[in-house]
Amino acid sequence: MADKSLDAPAAQVPTQLSDYRPYPFALTETRLDVTLAAEASSILAELDFSRRAPGALVLDIGKAVDLRRLAIDGAELDAAQWRRDGEILRIDAPAEGSFTLSSEVVVNPSANTAFEGLYLSGGIFCTQCEAEGFRHITPYPDRPDVMAPFRVTLRADLPVLLSNGNPVSAGDGVAVWHDPWPKPAYLFALVAGDLRAVSGQFTTASGRDVALNVWVRPGDESRADYALESLIRSMEWDEKVYGREYDLDLFNIVAVDDFNMGAMENKGLNIFNSKLVLASPDTATDADYERIEGVIAHEYFHNWTGNRITCRDWFQLCLKEGLTVFRDQQFTADMRSAAVKRIEDVLTLRARQFREDQGPLAHPVRPDSYVEINNFYTATVYEKGAEVIGMLKLLVGDEGYDKALGLYFDRHDGDAATIEDWLKVFEDATGRDLSQFKRWYTDAGTPVVTMTEDWQDGHLTLRFAQSTPPTPGQDDKPPRVIPIAVGLISPNGDEVVPTTVLEMTEAEQEFSFDGLAARPVVSALRGFSAPVMLDRQMDATTRAFLLSHDTDPFARWEAGRQLARETLLAMLRGESPGAEYLDAIGQLLADEAADPAFLALCLRLPSEEEIATVQAQGGTTPDPDAIHAAREALATEIARRHEAALEAVYARMEVSAPYRPDADQSGRRSLRLAALALLNRIDGGRRAAALFAEAGNMTERAGALGLMIQAGDAQQALSEFHREFSGVRLVIDKWFMLQPLHAEPDQAVAVAQHLAARDDFDWKNPNRFRALIGGLTANHAGFHAADGTGYDFLADWLLKMDAVNPQIAARMSAAFESWTRYDADRRKHAEAALDRILSAPALSRNLGEMIGRIRN
Ligand code: ARG
Ligand code: ZN
Repeated sequence: MADKSLDAPAAQVPTQLSDYRPYPFALTETRLDVTLAAEASSILAELDFSRRAPGALVLDIGKAVDLRRLAIDGAELDAAQWRRDGEILRIDAPAEGSFTLSSEVVVNPSANTAFEGLYLSGGIFCTQCEAEGFRHITPYPDRPDVMAPFRVTLRADLPVLLSNGNPVSAGDGVAVWHDPWPKPAYLFALVAGDLRAVSGQFTTASGRDVALNVWVRPGDESRADYALESLIRSMEWDEKVYGREYDLDLFNIVAVDDFNMGAMENKGLNIFNSKLVLASPDTATDADYERIEGVIAHEYFHNWTGNRITCRDWFQLCLKEGLTVFRDQQFTADMRSAAVKRIEDVLTLRARQFREDQGPLAHPVRPDSYVEINNFYTATVYEKGAEVIGMLKLLVGDEGYDKALGLYFDRHDGDAATIEDWLKVFEDATGRDLSQFKRWYTDAGTPVVTMTEDWQDGHLTLRFAQSTPPTPGQDDKPPRVIPIAVGLISPNGDEVVPTTVLEMTEAEQEFSFDGLAARPVVSALRGFSAPVMLDRQMDATTRAFLLSHDTDPFARWEAGRQLARETLLAMLRGESPGAEYLDAIGQLLADEAADPAFLALCLRLPSEEEIATVQAQGGTTPDPDAIHAAREALATEIARRHEAALEAVYARMEVSAPYRPDADQSGRRSLRLAALALLNRIDGGRRAAALFAEAGNMTERAGALGLMIQAGDAQQALSEFHREFSGVRLVIDKWFMLQPLHAEPDQAVAVAQHLAARDDFDWKNPNRFRALIGGLTANHAGFHAADGTGYDFLADWLLKMDAVNPQIAARMSAAFESWTRYDADRRKHAEAALDRILSAPALSRNLGEMIGRIRN
């Protein structure tokens, strides 16, 4: 029984972009007949192939798929006519013409703890097929460039049976579905179980009536309205802004509790992590609501950017993900505050993508090699992929962008396309040569752009130099085209030159401005016009000037951020915090006209991780404990200096109207909590405790609870919170996350260990695992404990998880990615933990690739 090969670490064989070959068959229709049962579901497949070129008929097939029968045009194949080799099935196929391949297999959904393919989540049958999950359901050409219409029959004695497309017939434990739009297998989905729908309706611009359903477990109906409303807003927006209409009579969204990622855009049947569907004021925070709206939009927008136009191969993942993230960011900017959204997006990009780009996991937006594709659903592919499109739009202008997108949809509808196709539509629509721009897709690493100024009687010269540090496998980085948006502000605060986009194409380049009456202050990289690190000497007074006078909200915020960073770096060098930053905070607090959400972002100090990154870039070895202490000291100093003003803001920002998750109210709550976070440093948690007791919404309750943990007096509140929400999984996840996250660094690992031993640490549930493990790894000084216990704890859990769910283990392993920047003792501990993982028997391909890259 024990097959030795199943215990050996998975082979680390890379797939290369340059090896792409078209599939030698067209697939004209896929018919599935699925009989669902928890332990043995059977799948009959009929695939209508027609030969297009010579070559073998090669299908993918998952290891755990029990293959019972194969036939071509009804004639059973004997053992000599096919061969199964690992995850590959080779079949002797007719040399020409069309034929139907039938197969019969049995799979075990209840044993599927990896949540890839067909699995059970809380009694609901569901699927996840992106990227390569369909092969765990049936043997198939599981690659995105093989597309077919699907006809699916589902059989199970369950009230709800769903698949892609439009319903053909239903009743008596059988449902038939037809999806007329040819699609790759990764967009297949089925769902079956006891579910309830919260329903709505949408009529498209050309008059198609679309039935909308958000399917949830009985009892969760009251928490599904916001998802439905978000879907309707997304459909309206995509018609209005991109001219894209929906193309089926039905759009279903299903919430499941066990899901490896956020959500999945299966054609007409999106499947979501319940965390991104379910919300009520007493269980979800403002941030949860904003994410739900954004992800519902993201998955809906995929219907055009991803489904109607898909990817030729998985190296082109950014073609759909970068573009769809860009579109969901535009949508959120339109629904809420564009300025605030931009700052939030830059914060995420820097925290996740810049960090990735600077370490051993750095890879291009379009990688050219991978071992396990699931390891490339990264911040680089998604968030940097979106930034690249933002730059393209800036370079060709709004009109050029609209023209190019129109051409993209016209020319490539129904295609499995590439980045070359994408760039070509921009070239054809605008006449611009994008060969240099393409480097943003092919070259990894974050460019560093230095800027210096020269002022001489009315002439201002800006000199820029760009360079990109080497990344794994790419030593040499030629200059890229970088759009640098600048504006000039006169000393009295007037804008003398409005935003202008400078196009930098050389390694070194200068730009001049003439006829200036007085030396202006330069506001550079407005709106974060390119994902680069701007290196620019500026004194604290000038930064403070920009913080109060810049007309570009991003640049204003950035000036304050730099001021805060430099203050912290000075403190870490043993200096005391300069007056400029503390004074600037005072001015911000006094500005009653400012947007509260914007002020809240300005009041938030840079994270400890951010400071460590900046130090490492500057050649200083970061000391996590010292960084933590400095940040705490600065927060305390701000609170002491501005106690009265913070109290006034705290009082003024109270929301008395009934809860709404909109930009206005959530902005007020976030400013209120930002003020409270500072006051918390000097009042021993008193105000946080009061807020916890009286707040009627989860935003303030969870915010207050986190602060109480920080203040070291939360035991009772934690028990109360747990008792109150013990039946609401998503809230208990917060409970698991907040404790290690806000624990004192020297207690964080012990807190995590203690929680991990609890009965309700249902670690096989990805959300629960991420809550606890992610809470710890986000506690910078706690995770990087000098004695290495944080690293050991993570290594233990990665190994345990890897045997059950390799995708989740691999994803969480990225917490190790910056290990080389710390001191020799920490490095020694990290190295030991990484080696321990690497030498484990039966390591998955997923975790094996990640740790292998991180360790090098
Ligand atoms: N296409 C999905 C999204 O971005 C992500 C699914 C990825 N899943 C995975 N197992 N890699 O919306
Ligand atoms: Zn996506």
